[in-house]
Amino acid sequence: MTPPPVRIAPSILSADFARLGAQVQLVEHGGADLIHVDVMDGHFVPNLTMGPAIVKALKRETTLPLDVHLMITDPDRYLDAFIDAGAAMISVHVEVLPHLHRTLTHIRHLGAKAGAAINPSTPVSALSEVADLLDHVLVMSVNPGFGGQSFIPHSTAKVAAVREWLTRAGSQADIEVDGGVDRSNAAALAAAGATILVAGASIYGSPDPAAATQALQRTANAR
Ligand code: DX5
Ligand code: ZN
Repeated sequence: MTPPPVRIAPSILSADFARLGAQVQLVEHGGADLIHVDVMDGHFVPNLTMGPAIVKALKRETTLPLDVHLMITDPDRYLDAFIDAGAAMISVHVEVLPHLHRTLTHIRHLGAKAGAAINPSTPVSALSEVADLLDHVLVMSVNPGFGGQSFIPHSTAKVAAVREWLTRAGSQADIEVDGGVDRSNAAALAAAGATILVAGASIYGSPDPAAATQALQRTANAR
C-alpha cells in the first residue's frame, strides 16, 4: 500500500504580517496543505506573536485547514477561543500540561484534531499514556520561540521513535515536524515516518514561496 503523501504546512511566522491574507493565498496556490499558525505568549517561549483574532481573520482568507501550535503556558484557557475562531488542528505542549489527557479530550470534544507537541529535550515517553487521544504528534526539531533556526539532527531519529511507538500502540496518528525543515532534511523525515512538515523560513524566506512549497512537497514525496 502506498502511504498518503506528506503534507506541507507553511508557517506564517516568517511571512509578511502586513499582508497575511495575500501571503497565505500565495502558498495555497503553491499547493500547501495546511497553514501553520504559531501562537507564543512570552512566557512558555521568549517571544510574542498572535491570538484568536488572527486565526479568525485568516479563516476568511483561505480554505486550507488552520493548524494552530500553542506555545503558551496555559493553553486550556484559550482552546475554545481558538477553535471558535476556526482552528482545525491544535497542538499543545506536554511540558506545561499536568492534565494532558483532559486537554486532548477537550480539544476533540470541541471538534478539532488534537495533537501533543514535544520539545527537543522532552522524551517520547511523555506521551505514553495518551496514544489513543492523539490525532497528531508535533516533534519540535528546534527549541521553540523563533523562526529560522537550524534543524537539530537528532530529530530524525526521534521521529522514527515516535512512529515506532505509535505503530506499537495501534495508532496511525500524523507526525508533524516543526523547525528548520527544508529540502535538505525533508526526504529523511518522511522516510522516518513524518507525515506533515512545517516550514517557515525555507518557504517565506524564499523569493517565491509558492515554488518553495511545491519544491518541498516534491522532495518530501520523492519515494
Ligand atoms: C518555532 C515555531 C515554528 C517555526 C518554524 O518556534 O514553532 O513553527 O515557525 O519556522 P522555521 O521553518 O523557520 O524553523
Ligand atoms: Zn510551530
